[in-house]
Parts: sequence; C-alpha cells; structure tokens
Amino acid sequence: PAPGWTTTTDVVVVGSGVAGLTTALRVRAAGLRVLVVTKAMLDEGSTRWAQGGIAAALGEGDTPEQHLEDTLVAGAGLCDEDAVRMLVTEGPGAVRRLIETGAAFDRDAEGEILLTREGGHHRRRIAHAGGDATGAEISRALVSAVRDVRDDEGVELIEHALVLDLLTDAEGRTAGLTLHVMGEGQRDGVGAVHARAVVLATGGLGQVFSATTNPAVSTGDGVALALRAGAEVADLEFVQFHPTVLWLGPDAEGQQPLISEAVRGEGAHLVDAEGVRFMVGQHELAELAPRDIVAKGITRRMHETGAEHMYLDGRHFGAEMWEERFPTILASCRSHGIDPLTELIPVAPAAHYASGGVRTDLRGHTSVSGLYACGEVACTGVHGANRLASNSLLEGLVFAERIADDIIERDRLGKLAPRHEDTTRPIEVVPLLAAESRAEIQRVMTSGVGVLRSADSMAAAVEGLAALSEPDPEKHEYPQVETWESTNLHLVASALTAAALLREETRGCHWREDAPDRDDENWRRHLTTTLVEGRL
Ligand code: SIN
Repeated sequence: PAPGWTTTTDVVVVGSGVAGLTTALRVRAAGLRVLVVTKAMLDEGSTRWAQGGIAAALGEGDTPEQHLEDTLVAGAGLCDEDAVRMLVTEGPGAVRRLIETGAAFDRDAEGEILLTREGGHHRRRIAHAGGDATGAEISRALVSAVRDVRDDEGVELIEHALVLDLLTDAEGRTAGLTLHVMGEGQRDGVGAVHARAVVLATGGLGQVFSATTNPAVSTGDGVALALRAGAEVADLEFVQFHPTVLWLGPDAEGQQPLISEAVRGEGAHLVDAEGVRFMVGQHELAELAPRDIVAKGITRRMHETGAEHMYLDGRHFGAEMWEERFPTILASCRSHGIDPLTELIPVAPAAHYASGGVRTDLRGHTSVSGLYACGEVACTGVHGANRLASNSLLEGLVFAERIADDIIERDRLGKLAPRHEDTTRPIEVVPLLAAESRAEIQRVMTSGVGVLRSADSMAAAVEGLAALSEPDPEKHEYPQVETWESTNLHLVASALTAAALLREETRGCHWREDAPDRDDENWRRHLTTTLVEGRL
C-alpha cells in the first residue's frame, strides 16, 4: 500500500529503554530533531524489569581493569577486548551522568552508593535502586526527562508503533523506516518516517522461547528488521538462560518472574530437594560463578535427580532484609503463594538475554550506512559468548552516548545523509505468518534450541520451523502487531538455530550435549548471519 501518512525528522530512535531514551535525549540536547517510536507504552520494554542493577567500577579499590577481567572471563574467549575496555572505562562516568538525569541509586548513611555482587564479579560492583527495582528507577528517570521536553517541537513520541522495515535511498543509505501505528489519531495506520539516521534500540528476543524473563514485546523485531535490510547479525547462538527464574510449573509460558542474582550475591544458596548445595565444588565462586555455569549446574542437577526445578534458600535473610533489599522479589514470590522468609523458592533457568544481535562497531554503526544499533539488539562485542551480570544496562548507556556523539559529529561535518522524502513510494510488506504460529515457534525452540542443545534436537527445530514457514493465506494489507511479531520471531528463530547448529562446541551460554568441550582451535570466532534474497 501507499503510506497512509508521512513525517520527517533527523534521527528516529526505535525503542524506549535505557539505550533508546539516552540516545534521544543526547541528540536532542545537541539540537537535532528526534522521533522516538515504541511498540507499546514508553516504559514497557525490558529496562524496567531489570532487578539486580548496573555494573561499574565505582567502589573503593575497584578499577575498570578488574571489571574488564571479569567481563572477559564470563565472555568465554569471544569478547572484543577493545569494546570491553571502552565499556568499563566509560561506564563510571556514564552512570554519574545518569544520576544527573535523575536516577536515584540506593545509598548508605554517608551518602555513598551501595554496591552488591552478582555472578562472575569478584567484588561488589553493582549499583542498585529501590532494592531490587533498578530498571524501574532508570526507566522512570529517563521517561520523565523525555516527558519534560515534550513541548519541544524537535522531539516527537509515537507509542503503539510497530516498526516494519528500513527505507533506503538509491545509494543504499538509510533514509527512514516504515511504521504501523495503532490508534494514534492522525498517525493511525501504516506510514513512513523520513530520517537521516535510524537507531535500533528494540531490546531482545526472549519471546522466541516459551518461558522467558522478557516482556511480551521482546520479539526480536530489531534483529528481524536488520536482517531484512541486509545488515549483518552475529553471535545469535549465545542466548543466555538466567539460572534463577521462579518456577511456576512445567507448562508456564510467557514472561516469568526473575529472582535476581543479587539474592545469591547477598548470600542465598542454591540447593536440591535434599538440601545439598550442589554448586559448591563445581566452581571457586560456587553459586556466584558466571551465569552460564550456574545455569548448567542447575540443569545438570535437574537431570541427575529427575527434578523439574531446584531451590533457592534465602530464609536466613530475615524479614527486614527481604523487605528492604528485595521488595519486588518478595512481593512476586508471595503473589505466587511462596514466602521466602519461611520457604525455599523453586527456581529453574529460563531465556533471559541475547548476547548477540545486530553487529556494530564501537560507535554503534551497523553494516548498513546510517543504521545504528544499541543495547540488547546490538552485538558490540562486549558480551562475547556470555554476558557478565549487570553489564547490559551499562552497555545500553555507554553505547547510546557514543552513538549520539557520532550522529552529532557527522551532522556537524556534513556527513549525515540528506533527507529523502519520497512520499509516493509504496510500502512493501513481506509475506506474513499467521499470528497463531507464535506459541508453536516458542515450543519448537524451547525443546530444540533451549538451554541444552544437540545436533538432533536442533535438526528437529529446523524441521519444526520449516513446517511453520508458510505465509498466512489471509491477505494482510494492513497487518496487525501479532502477525508481524510471529513473522519476526520465525525469522530470528531460524537464524538463531542455523548459527547454533553450525557451532560444534560448547562455549559460554551455547551448551551442546554432543560437543561438550570448548574448542578454541576451530571455534574461537564469531558466526555472522545475513539474509540474501530471502535466504539466511
Ligand atoms: C539479575 O538481576 O539477576 C539480572 C541481572 C542481569 O541480567 O544482568
């Protein structure tokens, strides 16, 4: 169809978590016009669900060098050391600027920021807010800063806007994107945004799996758009499974309640049904080993004992500690009938974080000119094969600043693409899957490409995905969110499975039953994926 409406701006930012809003505020402060589009409401992405906190070398005696060491170890040989060095060096300053924007972190009586520990960190390094509601506080501060500039005509927000595809000019440069807006008055329906730069900050892809800590909106839309636009994605096989997600039964689907690593950081133990602390002896850090090692430890113990979950024991914390330090988790457990003051918390791993994504350089450029990626959707090289706990908010923050600065500098040097306003160009809609295929895609991926994989399980997933690849025979001239989400999930699931099948080793959060060892000789390298003429 022809676009129902068009609008123009300098920079369009897709997504409203820490990465998107930080970029938008910074480019606007430099005088560029910015449009923020988000699929649901401004505060509905993954950022507000983050519990543990944001890692940065802020404590006495801590240094970026020590933070670098822990990040590289967790990344299992695949981090880009220059990217990590930049992250940990610029991190403390970026957190201080976030505080200036209005984020209030927990402090001690002397006013010093309180720091906790999480898996893989050798010291207390994680700043938190509201006890275990760090993401909610960061989101609140950034949304409020964006709302403060709402009267500014150079800032436009569109909520309930599903991004469809990238627009490019004759030279292949980014020229904007197409959107489907639901119920926004004048902007209702499918339209085109003409922009000189596009920043993808769409978050993760956890909804590829049946059970995940990610909200319903995390359907890999940014990775799918980037693939369709011809951009390179990398490291997709490294999906991190969080070890301690509240176990709500074998058939639990969709977003599941997280039990932060910080609970273990403050001294809770993992035990099996007999009360045995099974992580002791498996790693020098026991329950605080890097996340992939704990997720594997739990899964192995579940297999050995035939149990559907393990337990987290925080009964020794006492009421005051639970109420002040972990109010969100306490309320969430109690709402499911579990009282952590007196009972063990049933936990099992669930999909949590995409360590890979749209490949970028250190200024956030993707392989398509004028298209940037930031936050979980990106693969900047800082996470390698397994992200270190609480490095994700930090990555979103640091890279958002770098991307904004790059755009501002290009504008100043006259290097940003000129605006192309071809308002007549029809919007091409790729063949869409039926909305209902979502649950089946999730089941196929959970059984075939979940926490423990093998060539056989992944071959079954390839077959299952192929069976789901037929476009919906119903015509979708103006598709609904659900049809786009299923279409995106299918593309991302297919790319993820292809990469996971190819990597014949176990490394970081990619765990293969049939190739249980790390193989540095053959596999200390990245797998990149592109979509060429509809084929991965
Ligand atoms: C958590 O609080 O355990 C999650 C932290 C993270 O994913 O980095």
